[in-house]
Amino acid sequence: MSISFLLTLFITSSLSSLSAYAQLLRFSHSSKHDASLSFLMLGDWGRRGAFNQSQVAFQMGKVGERLDIDFVVSTGDNFYDNGLISEHDNAFAESFTKIYTAESLQKQWYSVLGNHDYRGDAEAQLSPVLREMDSRWLCLRSFIVDSELVDIFFVDTTPFVEKYFTEPQKHKYDWGGIGPQKPDVGNVIKDLELAPKESRAQWRGVVGHHTIRSVGHHGDTQELVEKLLPILQANNIDFYMNGHDHCLEHISDTESPIQFLTSGAGSKAWSGDLQQMNRRGLNFFYDGQGFMSVQLTQTHATIEFYDVFGNVLHTLASSKQPHSFM
Ligand SMILES: *[C@@H]1O[C@H](CO)[C@@H](O)[C@H](O)[C@H]1NC(C)=O
Ligand SMILES: [Zn+2]
Repeated sequence: MSISFLLTLFITSSLSSLSAYAQLLRFSHSSKHDASLSFLMLGDWGRRGAFNQSQVAFQMGKVGERLDIDFVVSTGDNFYDNGLISEHDNAFAESFTKIYTAESLQKQWYSVLGNHDYRGDAEAQLSPVLREMDSRWLCLRSFIVDSELVDIFFVDTTPFVEKYFTEPQKHKYDWGGIGPQKPDVGNVIKDLELAPKESRAQWRGVVGHHTIRSVGHHGDTQELVEKLLPILQANNIDFYMNGHDHCLEHISDTESPIQFLTSGAGSKAWSGDLQQMNRRGLNFFYDGQGFMSVQLTQTHATIEFYDVFGNVLHTLASSKQPHSFM
């Protein structure tokens, strides 16, 4: 094997570099040779194929091939109903490995945890044991994926939401590794305040499980509106991307260029629950199953939402002046 081949391998491998940056782990993911990048995003999916999960997976495979995707983003609630029992829970194979089988989906998956994942062994999903079973899997609490084109900040939003601590109802949440008391989300916030300032990428996205704005079943997440949104608004974030509501949705912030994109329709959907309050900026809402694609170049972002038949239901096209490297 030649040295240059090895070098190329190193540079193009999806987890090529890993450095401590502020507190957040940072993963470099290079863009394509033509400096473009594309990925698929889905959320709220792991039900052993049921509730159209397999149909969504099939269409993701086709769209993934057409767009020659670089990776997949999961917005959390990865395994229903109660996360994984342990690293050896066969739900991992039954709901992930054996479902997303298309060639085009054999890429790195970057995942965050959702509230349902915290009802099981949350740390099991973060475990390297899963990565050994299926090398596509990477789930961490908060981290950054960077390429020259885009920086994506992944945020663990469940600990922000007070009601999981104050009114857990019949559910048990696994706060192992976080602390039994309401965790201090201050560190995550500090990291998020620091990291985007250093970002030189043309596009900036933030991924979290919970909604900031949504007209679906759960609606807006007040804690994130109060604590997270001001940071995003102050740091030129282009997209906030989430799951939690089992729908597809596009809302524009009325006070900044931020676009709120919900892709939480990976399996059970059709809640029939559309909130009447706070519909400001609503562009698109679909109550059924589906997923989302993101295609980026230096000057253009194209985001598309698909249903279980692969139909494009909604497109968001956005453009920017090319970066000037001064
Ligand atoms: C699966 O998708 C089809 C088409 O959108 C829909 O009619 C059907 O109700 C869905 N099934 C479930 C279980 O949600
Ligand atoms: Zn959720």
